[in-house]
Amino acid sequence: MLQFDLSKARKFVSEEEMENFKSQTLAARDTLLSGKGAGNDFLGWISLPADYDKGEFQRIQKAAKKIQEDSDVLLVIGIGGSYLGARAANEFLNHSFYNELKKEDRKAPEIYYVGNNISSKYILHLQDVLKGKDFSINIISKSGTTTEPAIAFRVFKGLLEEKYGKDEAAKRIYATTDRAKGALKNLADEMHYEEFVVPDDIGGRFSVLTAVGLLPIAVTGVNIQELMDGANAMRERLLSADYKENPALQYAAARNIMLRKNKKIEILVNYEPSCHYLSEWWKQLMGESEGKDHRGLFPSSVDFTTDLHSLGQFIQEGSPLHFETVLEIEKSKEEIVLEKEAIDTDGMNYLAGKTVDFVNKAAMKGTILAHSDGDVPNFIVKIDEQSAGTLGEVFYFFEFACGVSAYLNGVNPFNQPGVESYKRNMFALLGKPGYEELAKELANK
Ligand code: PA5
Repeated sequence: MLQFDLSKARKFVSEEEMENFKSQTLAARDTLLSGKGAGNDFLGWISLPADYDKGEFQRIQKAAKKIQEDSDVLLVIGIGGSYLGARAANEFLNHSFYNELKKEDRKAPEIYYVGNNISSKYILHLQDVLKGKDFSINIISKSGTTTEPAIAFRVFKGLLEEKYGKDEAAKRIYATTDRAKGALKNLADEMHYEEFVVPDDIGGRFSVLTAVGLLPIAVTGVNIQELMDGANAMRERLLSADYKENPALQYAAARNIMLRKNKKIEILVNYEPSCHYLSEWWKQLMGESEGKDHRGLFPSSVDFTTDLHSLGQFIQEGSPLHFETVLEIEKSKEEIVLEKEAIDTDGMNYLAGKTVDFVNKAAMKGTILAHSDGDVPNFIVKIDEQSAGTLGEVFYFFEFACGVSAYLNGVNPFNQPGVESYKRNMFALLGKPGYEELAKELANK
């Protein structure tokens, strides 16, 4: 069961301070749950793990099976909230070298993510990977008009149609988009693609447990029912637990205490490379939800111990802008026991009989103590293991904490007005119809 542990940060956040934050935190939670706060059109994720379209869920499982049977590769086209959750889950739950495994060992298609940048190099190189392989596409875009995935979809839909013809290609395209409107919805209707829905009341960064995440996750063979069940267990816990026993409320309060103590950056720390994209998902969740009105913690992340050899110095002794939230995974499913060597040339025999994970945990404990001694507060989010159930818990835990935390800081967690600014300029520079005035303004700059 997920635990939020403040014990290593007591000198920075006392029990009394946490108690003083109780009434505001409960008020923020009530704002979220009452549906009366800003952005209240986007609260569908709160009940989602219990209250989802079971018919669509079965269709997702069926489509995943078909893709496993008829494809060597699945291309997942999407960006931001239409991309990061699926990648986070697939990296967290699957083999570290998933795509490189033999197909008979993987028992599922290779997965490549595209449409999350505007790089012609990336697109062309991915085309090389596809040569001679059967592939399908899951295009994911709520609006159906986002430039990055739209470009990638044009290119790879063209390739698919060239390879299979229009009709067969249409059977290999799965469109996850709005229920009723948008360019992708129109095209999917016209071409009879299989369609999945991004619910109206769930924003991109809260959508991992909808078809947005579930289809590409299910294709890798992950049990998506366990993922939903884990999220639902966390939902029930967070809705009923009191302040002190409620990990999301404790985390939301503690990070806002940090913010008020002038910490500007929260660093999410992991000790498993397969958590890298979970951190990327978390950064979008927290960053887009809280970074507005010139307020909020800047969400950052590091992969330890790798980054201890690069950013470790700054974290220990640099400008004191940050605190850390460490994701601790109690049990590693994989174990390597270090052997004793006859001649101890490298001086490592003192570790003989110990597991690599034992060493990793020692690095973690040592780092938490060193950083705390260096006045860098360390919070711990602890989970039992890396499984679909625990990941469901983690997703829901962070989403709930994010909603409460943003309301605590007085911002609307569910909009992202700042994301539009770059898009408007880009459209004007590209000569998109409707942006002529802005194009003139930009030319004068
Ligand atoms: O959180 C968000 O709203 C964004 O990151 C979107 O998910 C992202 O821009 C993709 O949007 P869409 O699904 O409409 O293509």
